[in-house]
Amino acid sequence: MEKIVVANLKMNMTAAYVNNYLNGIKEDINTKKVVICPPALYLPYFVRKKYSVGAQDCFYVDEGAYTGCISANQIASMGIKYTIIGHSERRQYFHETDNIVNKKVLNALENDLNVILCIGETKEEKDMLKTDKILKRQLINCLRNVNENKIENVIIAYEPIWSIGTGLIPTMKEIKSTTAYILEIVNSLYPDKKVKILYGGSVNEKNIESINKIDNLNGVLVGGASLDPHKLRKIKEVVLG
Ligand code: 13P
Repeated sequence: MEKIVVANLKMNMTAAYVNNYLNGIKEDINTKKVVICPPALYLPYFVRKKYSVGAQDCFYVDEGAYTGCISANQIASMGIKYTIIGHSERRQYFHETDNIVNKKVLNALENDLNVILCIGETKEEKDMLKTDKILKRQLINCLRNVNENKIENVIIAYEPIWSIGTGLIPTMKEIKSTTAYILEIVNSLYPDKKVKILYGGSVNEKNIESINKIDNLNGVLVGGASLDPHKLRKIKEVVLG
């Protein structure tokens, strides 16, 4: 199975630290299968050094009067191949709805980007046994009108919100059954298509061996641990061998 590691650096690092980081990750991380998503401002540093790179977000219009936004079209014009869309932090702090996420997904695919679409449930939803319902709703809404010719350019990242940055992760059995459910929904929407699925939420160099054994996963989406080049390298070694 084709595997990838996606590093979401979020809104971390100042310019001086980016250089340290680039020195720290060096050539062994420079593979198409490790996608680094730095703050937008620093994308060119990574592009220039030929890393496989992704944006953390994009807007749903190609260009125009949208102060502060960057578009999928602009991202693609830099030779960048990936963008994260619908991260729970975007949904929480910037009030992005499934509808907005859907518009972004459609526009990013139109611009030939690979989309890392994040979905996941809150702790409250999990406790109320609503996880499946929430994930199904997010998938149906966020993938609305995505053409079957484009669906294989979407990578689903299952990120339980309660697991992000908390050190808490679902049991391996839960990750397996929830990601199997996600694949079942995607397959019902797009029969015969192969969509990749990642797990994200408190992935680190210690739990990666167990997570990597879950056979329906194509890899992981890593936040905090990816800020440390040694931890990212260890995760990469386990996932990519
Ligand atoms: P952490 O790995 O820090 O929990 O973050 C996960 C995440 O949100 C990746 O997108």
